[in-house]
Amino acid sequence: MRILLIGFGVVGQSFAKLVLARRSELMKVHGLNTRVVGVVDKGGAAVASPELDLAEVLDAKSSGGTVAASKHGIRNASALDLISELDVDVVVETTPTNIKTGQPGLSHIEAALKLKRNVVTTNKGPLALALPELVELARYNNVALLFSGTVGGGTPILDFGKRCLASDRLVMVEGILNGTTNFILTSMEAEGKSFNEALEDAKKLGYAEADPTLDVEGWDTACKTVIIANWLMGREVTLKDLTVEGITHVTKSEVEGAKRKGKSVKLVGRVAERIDVKPRLIDRSDPLCISGTLNAVRFVSQYAGDEIIIGKGAGGMETASAILRDLLEVKYHMSQRWYG
Ligand SMILES: NC(=O)c1ccc[n+]([C@@H]2O[C@H](COP(=O)([O-])OP(=O)(O)OC[C@H]3O[C@@H](n4cnc5c(N)ncnc54)[C@H](OP(=O)(O)O)[C@@H]3O)[C@@H](O)[C@H]2O)c1
Repeated sequence: MRILLIGFGVVGQSFAKLVLARRSELMKVHGLNTRVVGVVDKGGAAVASPELDLAEVLDAKSSGGTVAASKHGIRNASALDLISELDVDVVVETTPTNIKTGQPGLSHIEAALKLKRNVVTTNKGPLALALPELVELARYNNVALLFSGTVGGGTPILDFGKRCLASDRLVMVEGILNGTTNFILTSMEAEGKSFNEALEDAKKLGYAEADPTLDVEGWDTACKTVIIANWLMGREVTLKDLTVEGITHVTKSEVEGAKRKGKSVKLVGRVAERIDVKPRLIDRSDPLCISGTLNAVRFVSQYAGDEIIIGKGAGGMETASAILRDLLEVKYHMSQRWYG
C-alpha cells in the first residue's frame, strides 16, 4: 500500500514510528505492506520510490526542522503538488484542525478524493464543516474516507458504532469527548479548584494548549459530535447546526452543589432528537462518569440497549494506531473494490 503522509507533527511522526516498529508484524499478520512514498510538512516534502526510509526522515525532521532536510527532500513542495503528482493508494492527512475554514486539510482531502485516492484523516476541521459533502465525494469516486482517529484517539468509538451496532438502530449517542475539559472538571470536583486554577494546572501538565479556546468553549467536542451524528446516525449536519456551550462559566459552587447530590458536572456532546454540546449533570455511579483525561461514549440502541466505551481520547501513538486501523480497513475495501 503506497501512502502519502501529509503533516509530520505529533501524529504524523508517531505514525512513522509505529510503521517502523510494526512493519513486519503488519505484513505477517494482516498482509499489509505499508510503503510511505511521500511525506509533507510546511517546509516541503520528502519523496522516494519504492519507499522512504522513515527513520532517516524522522532524523531529518528532528535535526533540520522539516522533512525537506531529508536526503530525498524537496524544499517548498506543497501537499497539493504531491497529491496530484504521486501515484498512491492512500493519502493520510494530519494537518492542524481549523474549524473556521477547514484549511489546509479540506483542500487536501477534496483534491485526493477527486483523484480517486483513499483518504485517512485525523483532522476534525474539514469533517466538522463539510462531512456530508466529503462522504458524497468519496462515494461518487468509489474510494474510502476514514477518520477513526478524530473521535477518541485510539479508542475505536466510531468503529464500534458503525460496525458492531450496524444491525441495530441508534437512538442516542452521548459522550465525554474532550480530555482537557474532563481533566479541568475532575480537578474542580476532586480538589475544590476554580475553573481558572484547574485550567492553569491542565496547562502545566500539558493537557491544555496555550490557547485552550477550542477545548474549553466546547468546539472540539462539537466537532466530534458532528462526526458521530453524520457517520453513526445518518444526520447530515455540520458545526453550524449545533448548539454549543463550553465550561468556562462553570463555577466551583455549581460543581460542589452537584457533588453533594451525588452528581458530577461533565461536558457532554449528545446526538438525540436535538444535537448539542453543554455541561450536564451525571450521576457519579453512572459508568459514563469517568474522571481525568479519559473519554467515554454511551450508545443507546433500540434493541441492544446501552453500551459504553471508555478509553484514552488522544495521544500521538494512540491516534497513529487509529490511522493503522483505518489503513487495514482500506486494504480490505481495496480487495473488495467497494466502499459503502
Ligand atoms: N495530537 C493528538 O493527540 C491528536 C489526536 C487526535 C486528532 N488529532 C488531530 O490530528 C491532526 C494532527 O495533530 P498533531 O498533534 O500531529 O498536530 P501538529 O503536531 O501541529 O502537526 C501538524 C503538522 O501539519 C503540518 N502542516 C501544517 N500546515 C501544513 C500544510 N499546509 N501542508 C503540509 N503540512 C502542513 C505541520 O508542519 P510543520 O511541522 O512544518 O509545522 C505539522 O507537521 C490535527 O488535526 C489534530 O487535531 C491530534
